[in-house]
Amino acid sequence: MKYSRITGTGGYLPSRTMTNAELEELVDTSDEWIISRTGIKERHIAADGETTCDLAEQASRRAIEAAGLSSSDIDLIIVATTTPDLVFPSTACLLQNRLGIQGCAAFDVQAVCTGFVYALGIAEKFIRTESATRALVVGAETLSRITDWTDRGTCVLFGDGAGAVVIEAADKPGIISTHLHADGQYKELLKVPCGVSTEYEKMRDGTAFMTMQGNEVFKVAVNTLGQIVDETLKENGLEKSDVTWLVPHQANIRIIRAMAKKLGMSMDHVVVTVERHGNTSAASIPLAFDEAVRDGRIQRGDTVLMEAFGGGFTWGSILLKY
Ligand code: UT7
Repeated sequence: MKYSRITGTGGYLPSRTMTNAELEELVDTSDEWIISRTGIKERHIAADGETTCDLAEQASRRAIEAAGLSSSDIDLIIVATTTPDLVFPSTACLLQNRLGIQGCAAFDVQAVCTGFVYALGIAEKFIRTESATRALVVGAETLSRITDWTDRGTCVLFGDGAGAVVIEAADKPGIISTHLHADGQYKELLKVPCGVSTEYEKMRDGTAFMTMQGNEVFKVAVNTLGQIVDETLKENGLEKSDVTWLVPHQANIRIIRAMAKKLGMSMDHVVVTVERHGNTSAASIPLAFDEAVRDGRIQRGDTVLMEAFGGGFTWGSILLKY
C-alpha cells in the first residue's frame, strides 16, 4: 500500500469581482447585512462564455507546474463540480483534452460543496491501491449560472472559481485519513429543483436556480461539522492541539468561527477566503489551500484539517501532513 502527498497546488478566479454594493442594486439587501451574517465582501463572477472547464484548466496548469510536472505525467483526473460545462462528456474529460492528455481515467464527482473532499478522498484511494501514481484533483464552479439574482437569500452568498492539487504516491503520509458522509433525507433544504430527467424545461428556459433554507442548513452544518472534527481526531488518536491549520469550506464566517472554537484554535490558524471569494462550493477548499501554501502560511510538515458540508447533505474531512 502506498500513501499519497500533495506536491502542487493551483487556483484561479475570474477577473470580474462583484461587491456587496452591486448586490444592493439588484435585491433588497445591504453591505452591512451581508458582512455581519456571512463575512462576504465580494465574490468573483465568470465572464460571459467563461466556463467551469476554463477555470479548472487555469488552476490545473498552476498546480501541475507547482508540482514540477508536465501534463503528460498525470494518470488520473477527478473534477468536483456541480456546474459542469455539459451534461456529458464530464468536465474532467474536457479538462483532460485541454491539457493534451489521453488515456488516463477522468471523471467528475458531484457532492456539491463537499465535492473536493470527496474527490481527494477518491484519488487518495486510487493511489493507495496503486491504480494511479500522479492524480490531478480539481474543484471548479460557475455557480453564478445557477444563481437566482432576484433571491436575496442566496445571490449574496456564492461566487465562481477553481482550485486544484496534484497528489503523488509517497512512502509515508501525506494524506493521513479521509472521512466521507452523506444523508439524503435533507435533500429539500439545499438544491436545484430540476435536472435532465425532472422539470427539464427549467434547464432550457434558464431558470435552473439554487434554492436554500439557509437557517436550517446553517444549524445542521454547524452540528455536523463539529461531529466530523471529533470523528477525525478520534480515529487518528490526535488532540485538537495537534492540528496546525484548519482549511474549511468557505460558506459563512460564522460557521468557520464555530469550527475554530470547537478546535480551540486561534483564527490565525484558520485559512479564510470567504470575504473575497464568497462560497465557491467545490472550489473553496483548494482555493484557500493554494492561497495559504503560496503565501507561506502552510509549511511542509504542518498538519492540516480540511472539512466541508454541502447539499445532499454531504459532509467530510481530510487530515493530512503537508
Ligand atoms: O455551502 C453549503 C452549505 N451552505 C451553508 O452552510 C449556508 C448556511 N446558511 C447561512 O450561511 C445563513 O443561514 C445565511 C447567511 C444564508 C442566512 O443567515 P441567517 O442569519 O441564518 O439569516 P436568516 O435566514 O435567519 O434570515 C434572517 C432575516 C430574514 O428576515 P426576517 O424574516 O427576520 O424579517 C431574512 O428574510 O434576514 C433576511 N435576509 C436578508 N436580509 C438582507 C435574508 N437574506 C437577506 C439579505 N439581505 N441578503
